[in-house]
Amino acid sequence: MTGFPQLRLRRLRRTEPLRALVRETRLEVRDLVYPLFVIEGSGAKQDVASMPGIFRFSVDLLPKEVKEVAKLGVPAVLLFGIPDHKDDVGSAAYHPAGVLQRAIGTIKGSVPELLVVTDVCLCEYTSHGHCGIVVDGYVDNDRTLELLARTALSHAEAGADIVAPSDMMDGRVKAIREVLDENGFHHIPILSYAAKYASAFYGPFREAAESTPEFGDRRSYQMDPPNWREALREVEQDIAEGADMVMVKPALAYLDVIRKVRDATNYPLAAFNVSGEYSMVKAAAQRGWIDERGAILEVLTAIKRAGADIIITYHAKEAASWL
Ligand code: PBG
Ligand code: ZN
Repeated sequence: MTGFPQLRLRRLRRTEPLRALVRETRLEVRDLVYPLFVIEGSGAKQDVASMPGIFRFSVDLLPKEVKEVAKLGVPAVLLFGIPDHKDDVGSAAYHPAGVLQRAIGTIKGSVPELLVVTDVCLCEYTSHGHCGIVVDGYVDNDRTLELLARTALSHAEAGADIVAPSDMMDGRVKAIREVLDENGFHHIPILSYAAKYASAFYGPFREAAESTPEFGDRRSYQMDPPNWREALREVEQDIAEGADMVMVKPALAYLDVIRKVRDATNYPLAAFNVSGEYSMVKAAAQRGWIDERGAILEVLTAIKRAGADIIITYHAKEAASWL
């Protein structure tokens, strides 16, 4: 008995309880990480025009927001800082009283059990908007490493639970691991943005984080979208340097890469459902062109099905409220 009419695949799809019984992928609130943009000043909650439903919060308004996130069951936030002062070496990124460092302390003080993951990069802090030190128009890899390591250390000192370098310099995981270990932070894990592509889908984020490069683009350090074997080499390299978890970013145009990384490593794998992916869904939903809830849950489930353990998504709060 191998085929129709004895075999009918529709039998297991007839009712919701039957479908639930044989469902292969389960999206859960505990898989989600919610990104937050933090600004200077007080009493400020600014909309991000390109990302409906997303705001930039001043530090004093974070407790209210993170209590809501935690109450929904979302286990972690990913923090991005937007300083008032930018310079060519991104000094606000590693200032002990910088906007992100204060945000970390405030969040851990108000909801200690919420995991605080910090984005470690310089682009929000540099006047030129690049992710490292610029020398003769080129982002200098090795001179950037020390500043990234200082930034990660300052986050750990402020109380971060996990540091997540997103700059794509070679050797940054090693540099960060070394400085954390030398300073008593051997227990702090590194989530490396290992396979991060030079993507058009970061557009809305750059508006939110004021991090658009002033000249050129990020293609000399972020990956070329056509490449997947190189993604495996990036992952291999970051693991060799001491990454505890790895990430593929963006998610939707790179589900094949998520799957390849999943099959190549046993390390925990995160995927970043980036700003442009969020804004596309929101824009279409606002026009009534797609069913918002259905589209969001389908997108997040697809990322999980591709092999991600952890999904970083601006949809985290709304998805949590539905799950
Ligand atoms: C900074 C950084 C970016 C994102 C995360 N960290 C932007 C970039 O590399 O230009 C993108 C996040 C998103 O689009 O949601 N290095
Ligand atoms: Zn950057």
